[in-house]
Amino acid sequence: MAQNVLVIGSGGREHALGWKLAQSPRVKKVYFAPGNGGTSENVDIKQNEIDKLVAFAKKTDCLSVVGPEESLSLGIADAFAKEGLRLFGPIKQAAMLETSKVFAKEFMKKAGIPTAEFAAFSDAQKAKDYIIRQDKPLVVKADGLAAGKGVIVCDSAQQAIEAVEKIMVAKEFGAAGGRVVIEERLSGEEASFIAMCDGKTLIPLASSQDHKRVFDGDKGPNTGGMGAYSPAPVVDSKLHEKIVRRVMEPVLREMKARGTPFAGFLYAGIMVDEKTGEPYVLEFNTRMGDPECQPIMMRMKSDLYEYIDAAIDGRLASAPPIQWREGTAACVVMASRGYPGSYKKGEPIEGLGDFGPDTMVFHAGTTRDAQGRVVTNGGRVLGVTAAGKDAKHAIENAYSAVRKIRWGENGHYYRTDIARRALR
Ligand code: AMP
Ligand code: GLY
Repeated sequence: MAQNVLVIGSGGREHALGWKLAQSPRVKKVYFAPGNGGTSENVDIKQNEIDKLVAFAKKTDCLSVVGPEESLSLGIADAFAKEGLRLFGPIKQAAMLETSKVFAKEFMKKAGIPTAEFAAFSDAQKAKDYIIRQDKPLVVKADGLAAGKGVIVCDSAQQAIEAVEKIMVAKEFGAAGGRVVIEERLSGEEASFIAMCDGKTLIPLASSQDHKRVFDGDKGPNTGGMGAYSPAPVVDSKLHEKIVRRVMEPVLREMKARGTPFAGFLYAGIMVDEKTGEPYVLEFNTRMGDPECQPIMMRMKSDLYEYIDAAIDGRLASAPPIQWREGTAACVVMASRGYPGSYKKGEPIEGLGDFGPDTMVFHAGTTRDAQGRVVTNGGRVLGVTAAGKDAKHAIENAYSAVRKIRWGENGHYYRTDIARRALR
């Protein structure tokens, strides 16, 4: 029997999840709450309106998939479970792996998961005293959710002290800065490793890498992600195995032991140490990555719905491995000029069209204006995603579509070096 699906969120990640789910013969209709200018069947409910989401899912008999961490942090999975509704995403207590960096670090220590050495503080003066006693480069992190901006990678003790001031005294990230984690700064190449989990078992997705800095060559401030590609060549089969055994499985075991089994997408941000080649966890997210989701969905040949359905029922142990399209997929984020700072909204987007079966324009910060035109509505506007038989072709395909799309007077901006690393 075909099933209605509700995708919660409004970004490129949600557009990609819904696009993929809609291809399943077992899916009847895909609703997006609230969705964006590229998604159809939008429902006017925000990702933090949990009671309304519950009511809608009940009324339309939907299986639900959660995109953003905000919904998870509000306990959406607990609320749906209480009503007997089927939803893919972790309960609030399991989502603490993402919502509290102190929780995540202590969890990793307990579970023996490799991560940078750290200390946690709720007192700014104690944090500063600690910094002065260290003789290695440090990273200062606000404990709570800060839209990817609460992490300050420091070059000197002075900078680390300023970071503590910013987070704990000036409260630049609000309540997220009540506590800080101060950790050793690691060096190496980063990769994103995401798996689907059902509380007991996990199935890894293809590896990926995102581009967090706004400018070419990884310069400029951090953003939500300026592009991504899959697979990440740095994750060879040996490293893949290590990440599964040393990171992902221990998370599932420890969560189960605590009585808060982890079901949902589990995302480990990995640093591959430049000297030893060993993987260390930089962070956990308890959801799909954005924009990593876009190239991963582009490469997924298996039916995503089948896996989500199995995961909700705790049947992943008997599911076959996911089939992936060979080659590479790359996603170039087209942003509003000025992002991650201030930028204009409401610019009509020109050049959106059909770029063929290997290219998909996933919408993020877009909406429809009164005339039904697609206009900009956010910092990250589009995720132009293309597949190719190798990285070179994927990059060419993606940028050839990107060059046809524009808005405003020079209103768009994108990095020109997405997936370049995969060419080596
Ligand atoms: P997080 O949100 O914790 O992943 O941090 C965001 C970014 O900060 C990461 O993608 C890394 O580029 C950087 N970062 C975080 N922790 C460390 C660390 N211990 N050493 C070096 N860079 C880090
Ligand atoms: N692309 C990083 C994230 O989704 O957090």
